[in-house]
Amino acid sequence: MKIDVFTLFPGWFEWFAEQRHVRNAVALGHGLAAVDLRSTTPLRAGQVDDTPYGGGAGMVIRVDVVEAALRARWDADPVEGRGPRRVVALAASGRLFDDALASELAAEDEVALLCGRYEGFDERVHEHLATDVVSIGPYVLAGGELAAMVVCDAVLRKLPGALGHESSAVEESFSPALEGAPEYPHYTRPAQWRGHGVPAVLSSGDHARVRAWRLERSRERAGPR
Ligand code: ADE
Repeated sequence: MKIDVFTLFPGWFEWFAEQRHVRNAVALGHGLAAVDLRSTTPLRAGQVDDTPYGGGAGMVIRVDVVEAALRARWDADPVEGRGPRRVVALAASGRLFDDALASELAAEDEVALLCGRYEGFDERVHEHLATDVVSIGPYVLAGGELAAMVVCDAVLRKLPGALGHESSAVEESFSPALEGAPEYPHYTRPAQWRGHGVPAVLSSGDHARVRAWRLERSRERAGPR
């Protein structure tokens, strides 16, 4: 898959692109690019935002600026020629990001992530350029960059081969393998630490019992449903 992140701060993604699972994904033929929204702005002097109609504090990223960036990247009209691409605008007001959406995005060929700044995007970006508006949690970030990294991280690690140890992404918190529940607890050496031991079943060698114990702990963590 190919992920393009449209941002006013492409430099933020240089560090992210260096991380092991991201490099693994790229080595497998996937792509991650940070695209500078300012580089294609149709406005003078690199302007990308404007004052809000109706007044109020802060600036709003203009819809024509986002349109120009997508048009330049796709060489197509971003409304008529979006094709099957997923265009995700990051905003605190969006649908809450979860494991199911991460899996959905990981199955796409092309995903564009739009990072807002200041007061965010002109609403017409959400309505006419984006296919999804996504929030990573009920709090307000200074911009969508960290949210985009969270989305990239969760999506890229699902790509076969990205983690380097295949089963990890299958049986993990919130996955169908665990019925959507949080993952069971893990233990490693030492067997005793300050008087705290490890559940005996994990050293029993009985795989069926271990499996049953893990499922039980996982269900416990999910709480009553
Ligand atoms: N931009 C600002 N806050 C955000 C959030 N919680 N999620 C996604 N994008 C954001």
